[in-house]
Amino acid sequence: MSVINSQITVTTLAQLKSKGEPITCLTCYDASFAKLLEIAGVEILLIGDSLGNVIQGHDSTLPVTISNMVYHSACVAKARLRALLIADMPFLSYATPKQALRNAACLLQQGGAHVVKLEGGLEQVETIRHLSNQGVAVCGHLGLLPQSVHKLGGYKVQGRSTEAASELKTTALALEEAGAKLLVLECVPATLAAEISRSLRIPVIGIGAGVDCDGQVLVLYDMLGIRATNAITPRFVKNFLIGQSSIEAAIQAYVIAVKQRQFPALEHCFI
Ligand code: KIV
Repeated sequence: MSVINSQITVTTLAQLKSKGEPITCLTCYDASFAKLLEIAGVEILLIGDSLGNVIQGHDSTLPVTISNMVYHSACVAKARLRALLIADMPFLSYATPKQALRNAACLLQQGGAHVVKLEGGLEQVETIRHLSNQGVAVCGHLGLLPQSVHKLGGYKVQGRSTEAASELKTTALALEEAGAKLLVLECVPATLAAEISRSLRIPVIGIGAGVDCDGQVLVLYDMLGIRATNAITPRFVKNFLIGQSSIEAAIQAYVIAVKQRQFPALEHCFI
């Protein structure tokens, strides 16, 4: 297979969804880990604003700036071979469509990202449409929105009531219709996530959203059991380093577990 053909694009991910093959994604913030994730065959490297927690030591993602995101994206891009690079738009960097386009340009042009991810529901439809119309590939993010932690009153499972579940389904469809190419679904009941994944044409990547999403993502440091703060480990996290002799083997174990739908297990899911 030629190098060009082996590049992971949003089209490749859509094909994996239609084949029913789970997509693997991990967060990544530097070139050394990017190389290890590439070797293990991880399809998406997410330069997540979770770097605010795991790299910078904050208790939320709110302090992360667009220059932090550009810096870490560029570090990851240096070692990228074939994975798709998604970079998070940090808190308040996409409050208007115009501001979002300016900051997305920084992530794509200086950071080397392929896709930008932004958190939020119907209020982001206009922004997603604007970015998409300008040729920017966008990943939506629904369910638990870490950037809205203070508005939500903490890191809580979302979509549990009938009304909230129905609102999430409608919103997911609206993001797809606005042009989103991917959707991250965080901390929602597994049955709801399965229903949303079936309803959308675009791939749904879950975190704390059950095994029936089209793919899975974890924060890299979480799945290696590394924690900078004393925060409680969320239920959906599994430490893949346990029982493995190296970081490389732990990452490989994650890829295999996701591809074989052995992760997440019931103990990592919400009902
Ligand atoms: O920033 C991040 O790591 C994320 C994941 C939790 C999906 O957005």
